[in-house]
Amino acid sequence: MTDAILVSQDQGVLTLSFNRPDKKNAITDAMYGVLADSLIRAEADPAVRVVLFRSENEAFTAGNDLADFAAQNASGDTSRAMAEERNVTRFLKALARADKPLVAAVKGVAVGVGTTMLLHCDLVYVASDARLSTPFVNLALVPEAASSWLMPARIGHARAYAMFALGEVVSGEEAARIGLANRALPAAGVDEAALSAARQICTRPMGALKITKRLMRDADRIAGLMELEGQHFSDQLKTAEAAEAFAAFAQRRAPDFSKVA
Ligand code: COA
Repeated sequence: MTDAILVSQDQGVLTLSFNRPDKKNAITDAMYGVLADSLIRAEADPAVRVVLFRSENEAFTAGNDLADFAAQNASGDTSRAMAEERNVTRFLKALARADKPLVAAVKGVAVGVGTTMLLHCDLVYVASDARLSTPFVNLALVPEAASSWLMPARIGHARAYAMFALGEVVSGEEAARIGLANRALPAAGVDEAALSAARQICTRPMGALKITKRLMRDADRIAGLMELEGQHFSDQLKTAEAAEAFAAFAQRRAPDFSKVA
């Protein structure tokens, strides 16, 4: 079976590539496991100077696998204790605590965590026609990855609320304009731009890079908020409104929340 996350390392750049094209690179628990393990190893390995997130195909990622969410909803397996043990939680914690620079190359769709993880990346290159969205409320869910704070801090309450509550989609062009990304460029050039930036970062002194990042982020507040968001997320996952949202996605129809909430 092809690895759904490809891991490669070259001259100080650890590259993590989404590679599940048939599901728009939707992220399963096993995939989060590889991402979490790789980030944790990168922090400890002096040979890694920067981590680059990218995708092998035309999507960045459609976010968390919705079949996984539906299975958790159906099994009632959404306790806070269980959530703590999930790989997604390990991945988010690793993002929160990352001291080394993170770079992203985003083509196509970036949904949910596909967009919120970008708030933890230090340099983001997007295709002009990329489509970034965080439709948590449409799924009866709530913001995660500390995005309830980081997103409005980055783009203002009005835009952030529209993304969370209306599922407003932001183009790559717009993402660069409002500060969600460094630069928008034609899709064919995104990987090269991100790799070139990552290689430049590799030449910078690691001590100064790490301190700069620590000074720019309140990692304790981010980690604390992720925990609070995670509690609400787990609670929402088991609701009837979430069941309706997941069923609607599977059946390719619009959800009808009037029956359940
Ligand atoms: N989880 C599981 N499967 C997903 C998925 C997800 N998050 N996103 C897409 N897929 C699957 C689809 O079910 C479909 O599978 P199938 O061919 O076996 O039916 C395949 O990927 C292609 O998706 P499709 O919807 O046909 O592609 P599209 O180009 O029309 O739309 C998206 C792409 C990403 C806009 C759309 O798939 C979507 O909205 N996905 C859900 C995103 C989401 O809500 N993520 C969770 C955020 S918390």
